[in-house]
Amino acid sequence: MAAKIVVTQPVHPEALDRLRAAGHEVVALDSPRGLPADEVRKATDGADALLSQLTDRLTADVFEKTSLRIVATIATGYDNIDARAASEAGVVVTHTPDVLTDATADLAMTLMLAVARHIPESDTTVRSGTTGPFRLLHEPMGIDISGATLGIVGLGRIGEAVAQRAHFGFGMKILYTARSQHSAAEERFAAERLPLEQLLAQSDVVSLHAPLTDETRHLINRESLSLMRPNAILVNTGRGGLVSEVDLAAALQSGQIAGAGLDVFENEPDVHPDLLACGPRAVLTPHVGSATAKTRAAMTALAVDNILAVLAGDPPRNPVP
Ligand code: GLV
Ligand code: GLV
Repeated sequence: MAAKIVVTQPVHPEALDRLRAAGHEVVALDSPRGLPADEVRKATDGADALLSQLTDRLTADVFEKTSLRIVATIATGYDNIDARAASEAGVVVTHTPDVLTDATADLAMTLMLAVARHIPESDTTVRSGTTGPFRLLHEPMGIDISGATLGIVGLGRIGEAVAQRAHFGFGMKILYTARSQHSAAEERFAAERLPLEQLLAQSDVVSLHAPLTDETRHLINRESLSLMRPNAILVNTGRGGLVSEVDLAAALQSGQIAGAGLDVFENEPDVHPDLLACGPRAVLTPHVGSATAKTRAAMTALAVDNILAVLAGDPPRNPVP
């Protein structure tokens, strides 16, 4: 039976074609930004499925007496969705794990290296035409990533992919925090599970891969930053809310830690002015962890698979846990 599918923001045209080819009615909104909850509510009145993105706000109100049967978010994180309210309303929520693991892990390594080796600053210097010849005592000197200790906060799929790159590619020693022990990873990467405080104190690089929940909000704050080493680099490709931007900016300004590579921010697309004022100690990218052509297409295709499955009465491939 034909269903009505609402698409909140622009997606790959092939995705809309596939939904239409299955005989469904597609309402493609081309909102340039995420939709607030009241707009999602209005847009989904009488709809069966929603193809949504992480900037849409799907609070409990959206699911009250809703006609929706499925929400497919084109993302792995779903902290923008009240998944419990959805479940209570009988709405399936699906996400797109796995397909973005490698691209996101690649970006975490990129940020780590870019901060350690002052890449944006070096690029600017070269372009300014003010670089002299090779100097042995070049400043600023970089920090070695090879052989350094990496602390991974949250050893899910992406955290593990970072561990793989870091351990096998860069000979890094791997520490991790996680709610449960990951024996296979411990064996594979000689990884050691530690409480967060100890991990922060022993790591040269700390990379965040935990989901954003009430428990993990501002996990990195003044107190936790004070445990980190002065040569340490913080990398965040997870969610901005894991870090207090004000506290991080203060730690960068005071030299409490050496640098930060951030792909995600507390109030995207805004970045706290204190953080912007930190200059090259902070390397910033605009939430592009999964933004390779192949990965973004795979994410969209997976979300469409999930919608088509549920509308056909089949189990979804990727229900949120
Ligand atoms: C991106 O941030 C995602 O959760 O997929
Ligand atoms: C994301 O999919 C993760 O498990 O890290």
